[in-house]
Amino acid sequence: MRILLTGAAGFIGSHLSERLLRLGHEVIGIDNFDPFYDRSIKEENLSISKKSNSFRFFELDFATDVLELTNLPEFDILIHLGAKAGVRPSIADPKAYIEANYTGTLNLLELLKTRGIKKMVFASSSSVYGNCLNIPFTETEALDQPISPYAFTKRGCEMMNYTYHHLENIDIVNLRFFTVYGPRQRPDLAIHKFIKKILNDEPIQMFGDGSTARDYTFIQDIVSGIVSSMDYILENDNCFEIVNIGNNQPVKLKDLIVAIENTLGKQAVIEQQPMQPGDVDITFANIAKAQKLLNYQPTTSIEEGLKEFVSWIKVSA
Ligand SMILES: NC(=O)c1ccc[n+]([C@@H]2O[C@H](COP(=O)([O-])OP(=O)(O)OC[C@H]3O[C@@H](n4cnc5c(N)ncnc54)[C@H](O)[C@@H]3O)[C@@H](O)[C@H]2O)c1
Repeated sequence: MRILLTGAAGFIGSHLSERLLRLGHEVIGIDNFDPFYDRSIKEENLSISKKSNSFRFFELDFATDVLELTNLPEFDILIHLGAKAGVRPSIADPKAYIEANYTGTLNLLELLKTRGIKKMVFASSSSVYGNCLNIPFTETEALDQPISPYAFTKRGCEMMNYTYHHLENIDIVNLRFFTVYGPRQRPDLAIHKFIKKILNDEPIQMFGDGSTARDYTFIQDIVSGIVSSMDYILENDNCFEIVNIGNNQPVKLKDLIVAIENTLGKQAVIEQQPMQPGDVDITFANIAKAQKLLNYQPTTSIEEGLKEFVSWIKVSA
């Protein structure tokens, strides 16, 4: 299978690319090295995929380089992970998020339409649940109150994807990822920041009283969920699905810090700060649909995942 993979140089995209190549697929990776974090990190993320003859890479911006998009080689399925990620920066620069995430997705849907390609997996986010009161979060929840521009773009794209499914018969699985962590995790995310700071004897900032909780999901479990959804839409026609890909085990921020301290064998110096606008109190995935539809089953505990992350950060530092 020949897969067009957007965001190939990013955290999740680079791991997915390697898995797809190992499974014998061809990958056409695209990424614009968005400056949200260092280009050098993304170049390094690509290094393993680039060793494969089945991997081709195009540096382009899917929101603005429309002509370059139309000139891409043939492919069978789109896995669209590329996006401006992050809740807090989206509040500072909503326009950039609308362009990259919303207009960018529209351009890719138009590409599928023009080429007659009928299969797509889209990276959505648990952020679309906002401060949903029904816990764990379930895909059937009516969601029309996003609390950040980032969340708005992800929910908006799910809806736009539906329009293209309806009008163009494109089969689409929207995957709502829940806080992904592991080797190569984005440097803006809590686990990465905390571990680096504790190792460097710097204080860590804890927003709120530590009672907020996240359903941290290990990168290889996420990658398995993406591969299963790809297989699912390749085997099924006329489908449009929204599926949570989480760990189903939320961890409180204060417990996460203790787990990191235990993994590092080192105490953190904690500076408590007020809760940040756009942040939600809890994320908690109901994964019954993923289990049923995709045979998805996360297998990595937070303790095991943190151990892998710490080994990686020590080698890559
Ligand atoms: N990491 C998480 O916890 C998490 C949680 C929920 C959803 N997601 C979603 O999963 C996807 C991947 O996230 P990630 O953590 O790997 O982020 P990432 O920032 O590491 O990867 C995203 C990649 O997309 C690229 N990109 C951004 N705008 C682009 C554009 N206009 N044209 C081409 N490339 C562009 C970036 O350069 C980057 O390499 C994103 O859609 C994100 O919103 C991630």
